[in-house]
Amino acid sequence: MTLQIFRTKPIQTSEDSVDQGLKRCLSAWDLAFLGIGAIIGTGIFVLTGIAAATQAGPAVVLSFIIAGIACAFAALSYAELSAAIGGCGSAYGYSYAAFGELCAFIIGWDLLLEYGISVAAVANGWSGYFNNALTAIGFPLPEALTKAPKLGGLINLPATVIILLLMGLLIMGVKQSAKANNAMVFVKLITISIFIGVAMFNVHPENWHPFMPFGWFETLPDGKTTGVLAGASLVFFAYVGFDAVSTAAEEAQNPQRDLPFGIITSLLFCTFVYIVVAGLLTGVVNYKDLNVSSPVAHALTLIGFDWASALISTGVIAGLTTVMLVLYYGLTRIIFAMSRDGLLSPFFSQVHTTTQTPVRAIVVCGIFMALIAGFIPLGDLAELVNIGTLAAFVLVCFGALVLRITKPDLPRPFRTPFSPLFPALGMLSCGALMAFLPSLTWLRFVIWLTIGLIVYFAYSIHNSKLVK
Ligand code: ALA
Repeated sequence: MTLQIFRTKPIQTSEDSVDQGLKRCLSAWDLAFLGIGAIIGTGIFVLTGIAAATQAGPAVVLSFIIAGIACAFAALSYAELSAAIGGCGSAYGYSYAAFGELCAFIIGWDLLLEYGISVAAVANGWSGYFNNALTAIGFPLPEALTKAPKLGGLINLPATVIILLLMGLLIMGVKQSAKANNAMVFVKLITISIFIGVAMFNVHPENWHPFMPFGWFETLPDGKTTGVLAGASLVFFAYVGFDAVSTAAEEAQNPQRDLPFGIITSLLFCTFVYIVVAGLLTGVVNYKDLNVSSPVAHALTLIGFDWASALISTGVIAGLTTVMLVLYYGLTRIIFAMSRDGLLSPFFSQVHTTTQTPVRAIVVCGIFMALIAGFIPLGDLAELVNIGTLAAFVLVCFGALVLRITKPDLPRPFRTPFSPLFPALGMLSCGALMAFLPSLTWLRFVIWLTIGLIVYFAYSIHNSKLVK
């Protein structure tokens, strides 16, 4: 058993990877759009306001820069590994090659948490904006159908329904999903342009003073954290998703060239957008006014641009849809990869003959996430996502380092510059952001990992294809 869990999987480079049923149809720009589709969402449209109002003030711009730097280090390692190693399991596949089965299972399990909970969390945010839009046109839904039981409702119905609709879209096929994604990314970019266009002429520089009202970091008596660094570990959520590009390795037309392009382009673009939007948002209104569920639209209403506010709300609905679509897609591909390797039931790796998509994985995940989104409130879900993602990033950077030593001759079409310094800085910065998260989040994370270990030792270790 000891030998097995440390045995690494032979590396299958992208060049010699055999097509195992998924269709190679995504171009370099499809991948970059996939990244932008997954990245820009609740983080910038909702959390910027909350982080500015409660943790960082106008210095939320610094929080975005700090989180962006940590992600950039991780993105370089992702790019190196995704170009060198085939397979659609993303960080799961890389850690299989670098560390062996147990570690791969743990990171795969961790990614299931990241992607699954993100989708449910973003669906909650989507539902909020959707209800705002319905209320604006005079058809508000009854409260019982828009809130989880813990918040006094029966079910968050819009959140459940949107996930089931996306389930249908993903079943239809990945190219169709990519087309829908590209269209919605376009709408999202127009939305952001409208905000920038209006906000840049309405900045009042006095709103940027005091710039850093909460300091760098402080733990409050109630256990909550505040300051620019705590803000960074919260707005990190805004960057979650660029790694989803690497889950599309088996559907990319030329993964070695296109994955690094997709990952790095989408991350750079989004970082730039975040810095501009966060700077403008805290410049047009006082940061204390931003602790609301739709801060970007709210800020425009406050300065008298109701038409722009309504347009933005509509765009955000489209924007959050793409985030869910891409993360949901990533989730099913990780389950597919783990199932194909025998670590999860073979039930999940069946590819439908007509649509060429893993329909069972899509349906089971869809039902689970729809239930979670309907019955568990956003606050409880969002916290878990960051810790799971940061843990995956730390391991990916570590994996890039380890493989440079254990497999120095592996062809690497993309190489992280200044290795080992950059991967080490990636581990350090992502690890530090984890440390700024509350202890309750850590506890939930440990519980999830413990369940994973039970699954591994009860099922996966006996069914692993690697051993057979
Ligand atoms: N980065 C994604 C968002 O902000 C998850 O919604």
